[in-house]
Amino acid sequence: MSTDQHLIAPHGGALTPCMAPEAERAALRERAAALPVVTLDERQVCDVDMLASGAMSPLTGFMGQADYRSVVDEMKLASGHIWSLPITLAAERPAGDEVCLAAPDGQPLAILQITEAYGYDKEQEAERVYRTTDGAHPGVAAVYAQADTLLAGPVRVFDRVAPEFPGHSLDPQATRAAFAERGWKRVVGFQTRNPIHRAHEYLTKCALETVDGLLVHPLVGATKAGDIPADVRMRCYEVLLEGYYPADRALLSVFPAAMRYAGPREAIFHAISRKNYGCTHFIVGRDHAGVGSYYGTYDAQRIFDDLDADDLGIEPMMFEHTFWCNGSGGMASTKTSPFGPEHRVVLSGTAVRDMLAQGQRPPVEFTRPELADILIEWARSEQGA
Ligand code: ADX
Repeated sequence: MSTDQHLIAPHGGALTPCMAPEAERAALRERAAALPVVTLDERQVCDVDMLASGAMSPLTGFMGQADYRSVVDEMKLASGHIWSLPITLAAERPAGDEVCLAAPDGQPLAILQITEAYGYDKEQEAERVYRTTDGAHPGVAAVYAQADTLLAGPVRVFDRVAPEFPGHSLDPQATRAAFAERGWKRVVGFQTRNPIHRAHEYLTKCALETVDGLLVHPLVGATKAGDIPADVRMRCYEVLLEGYYPADRALLSVFPAAMRYAGPREAIFHAISRKNYGCTHFIVGRDHAGVGSYYGTYDAQRIFDDLDADDLGIEPMMFEHTFWCNGSGGMASTKTSPFGPEHRVVLSGTAVRDMLAQGQRPPVEFTRPELADILIEWARSEQGA
């Protein structure tokens, strides 16, 4: 009997990891050595790793045209299940029907059985998925820069790239087992690509008040230049969890996905993948997975309105823009505080960066001092670099 029978079902009903069973890996490795090679970029490696672990269930490979069209136009797989982001492999078509997928350093990882190779409309994908055709949007820029052909088919992974944070790298199955071990049934997942400032901490703790456990699940796959590197963030998360969260209620593990900055569409993707990890609830705050000013503050919340709640399965927990409010003497939002903007401790990302670079801690109401010190050290090393 599986240990996680009392947990939420994965998307589509079952986990579909593309990692081959141990006994088959040597033969796959050998077969791959004779195949043409597609060298993956940083983002594609993340996709293969997510497929390997089952984090992208029910996907079993890169999307064919029927799924691609349906996802772009209707946010559904051809099977009818909700899916919001195209998971595609853009690459020149090699000779033959099988290809070896290799990491940027040449390490062979998987065999893709090519069942389809098709052209696609990049602008249309940008418009529908990213809600903009502006090439300055980092996700759109990646689509525009990639190859004009999409290779599709099942993926069989025989080796995975070494995890950057081996102590915190639980696959969906292992995460589910960790929840079951702790007796957690209702678990809220928290996606982040930033250090956990006070506002983030507040969301996670408000959510945790109503469920059994919290999965702090920072994205550590490819991010854009300018985002704070994952290793710096991990130090922040470790210090914060150790000091400010009860160990039996919060679990830190990484989410190895690449960031697409697709705002609303990516919020759905983030939620569904966390369901695969066993979360029943998922935090969606202000401008989730957004970048610049491409999305409205609550667009990533509204997009959930029209989804079939049964198919979605995981429950989004929406949060207003939160901040420290001097008037109320605590974290708050316009929903919970009657005080005006002049009472709020709100700092822009740029302002925080400037303070850190000058060796200055942001106010304690914004960032805990232990984290500020880690970030100052990083900001200063960046300056010296
Ligand atoms: S994201 O790209 O992963 O969404 P970030 O790490 O900044 O970026 O945010 C993580 C989560 O916290 C998202 O759900 C986001 O909406 C939410 N969030 C961040 N800051 C705030 C805030 N001040 N108020 C409410 N929600 C927030």
